[in-house]
Amino acid sequence: MRSHYCGHVTEALVDEHVTLCGWVHRRRDHGGVIFIDLRDREGIVQVVVDPDTEAAFAAAERVRNEFVLQIHGRVRHRPDGTVNPEMATGQIEVLTRELEILNESDTPAFQLDDANVSEEIRLRYRYIDLRRPEMQARMRLRTRVISHFRRFLDDNGFLDIETPMLTRATPEGARDYLVPSRTHPGSFFALPQSPQLFKQLLMMSGMDRYYQVVRCFRDEDLRADRQPEFTQLDIETSFMGEADITGLTEDMVRTVFRQVLDVELPEPFPRMGYAEAMSRYGSDKPDLRIPLELVDVSDLMQAVEFKVFAAPAHDPKGRVAALRVPSGGRLTRKEIDGYTEYVGRYGARGLAYIKVNDIDAGREGLQSPIVKFLPDEALAAIVQRTGAENNDVIFFGADKASVVNESLGALRVRVGHDMNMVAAGWAPLWVVDFPMFEWDDKAARWTALHHPFTAPSIDDPDELRKAPGEALSRAYDMVLNGTEIGGGSVRIHHTATQQAVFELLGIGDQEAQEKFGFLLQALTFGCPPHGGIAFGLDRLIMLMAGASSIRDVMAFPKTQTAQCLLTEAPAPVHDQQLRELNLRLRRTP
Ligand code: AMO
Ligand code: AMP
Repeated sequence: MRSHYCGHVTEALVDEHVTLCGWVHRRRDHGGVIFIDLRDREGIVQVVVDPDTEAAFAAAERVRNEFVLQIHGRVRHRPDGTVNPEMATGQIEVLTRELEILNESDTPAFQLDDANVSEEIRLRYRYIDLRRPEMQARMRLRTRVISHFRRFLDDNGFLDIETPMLTRATPEGARDYLVPSRTHPGSFFALPQSPQLFKQLLMMSGMDRYYQVVRCFRDEDLRADRQPEFTQLDIETSFMGEADITGLTEDMVRTVFRQVLDVELPEPFPRMGYAEAMSRYGSDKPDLRIPLELVDVSDLMQAVEFKVFAAPAHDPKGRVAALRVPSGGRLTRKEIDGYTEYVGRYGARGLAYIKVNDIDAGREGLQSPIVKFLPDEALAAIVQRTGAENNDVIFFGADKASVVNESLGALRVRVGHDMNMVAAGWAPLWVVDFPMFEWDDKAARWTALHHPFTAPSIDDPDELRKAPGEALSRAYDMVLNGTEIGGGSVRIHHTATQQAVFELLGIGDQEAQEKFGFLLQALTFGCPPHGGIAFGLDRLIMLMAGASSIRDVMAFPKTQTAQCLLTEAPAPVHDQQLRELNLRLRRTP
């Protein structure tokens, strides 16, 4: 139906006849001559319809935005003064001979180039939204990124193997999406939170190197970088340790960035221990582009009378930390109140601060609601340790370490953005040496920081049982610009270790057999040492596209409340269907 894409009609085609198909981006009536911007996947070209070509002109008069046209015409230079250097096709226009309306369009709910359309409307009419050049570019970027990843892995001997979508629960820390079984009344499949167990079984099957671009399903609280279904680039290898796996996969990411974005990422990526990341950035996914750091002042606050600081300073699980913001002295009271409200969302009960007006004037030079509670030595030590200078502000968090880290860690990022301190470019990082277990006060038991198949640094099961709190895991996260884009680990390949870990996690023998019996059994039949990683492709592509939400790089994403506005899923089903599945609703909504 066409000879060229609209976006490919350039000066090289002047005087040639072309047939184009596309959508009407805009139509302008210029006193007898009609101009149509015709749009397809590759771009926009200006089409001119002259009253001399009567039939075409009559059709063009009926044309409205988003009509689908086929036009036939001759490419010519645009008259002087009408050249548009911004457009790839800006030197030329197509003088139409024939114009056929292939289809009409109702008036779209929004104008494609209207920047103020709500996301709700965009998602409801996603097929129109996806016509926008920006969205087209993102989908193309997505294709390219994925195909380059595949090429790299294919070239490195990885086998692309599919794993079941209807399966058993895989513990990755979220709720499962369940699918009722018709043939086994009362039983349910779970959609995979990840192919974790299957990829381990593939290593036990001798596949050696596996990858899959695979959909994962997690029923969890959604955010800008979380969707209920998302895509992983999932990888597993045998006979490779941490260094090999991280080396290979960072090489892969570097290669794809070079090929797709022409960006050279550092070699090797820097590495940081979890403890250091928490201490300096309050986060296990620090954005290293922001030059602000948390400074521990717990030791300085033990002797002060100010209870807000002294209590957590004495508590082994507490932390008092400072965040110095250069030139933050200009923040207004209102802005600081805003930040106080912000850290409150992370559980902080306040946000103490000191403005450094005149560093040589001792306590007189410090402006703050809390200096009156702190002795001279403590104030001097704070200023010294944070390296504060005149016109800086120092924020404080004092609470359980987890609250301080989360709140000041988030404040660090927020202030960094608000004050334009985010350095340009890319800051990849491996975070390693995570604790194997975390004590959950509420549940009064250990929980796994990664998943329960991650190998602990203490391999001997008895030693591990003695000191679970001291064990690190052999896990690694890849972080890019403050987003966790991938995570993986070396896995447990001995039954005894796997049993010890289940036991420490409070998964009893019976439960372990019931849920993971197949894995425990497979471990006894010659399981090779193995390990792997999974990348969140949506997140990675979001960063590469410069988008602010993974929804912008997914063709048909769900809303924050896990709904598809386009199809209106999820939706109620008929009683008949429920009956077939042996289900009855407790309440009809
Ligand atoms: P993990 O749970 O860390 O590891 O997931 C791997 C990566 O997937 C991305 N991700 C998500 N992206 C969008 N929406 C979500 N809801 C979401 N959840 C996770 C993140 C994350 O780094 N089986 C292990 C991997 C392994 O050990 O090999 C796993 O799934 O970028
Ligand atoms: P208060 O004595 O509660 O009025 O608090 C004095 C100052 O300390 C105020 O600026 C509070 O915002 C701040 N503050 C209170 N609790 C905390 C906390 N847990 N961490 C940091 N600052 C706090």
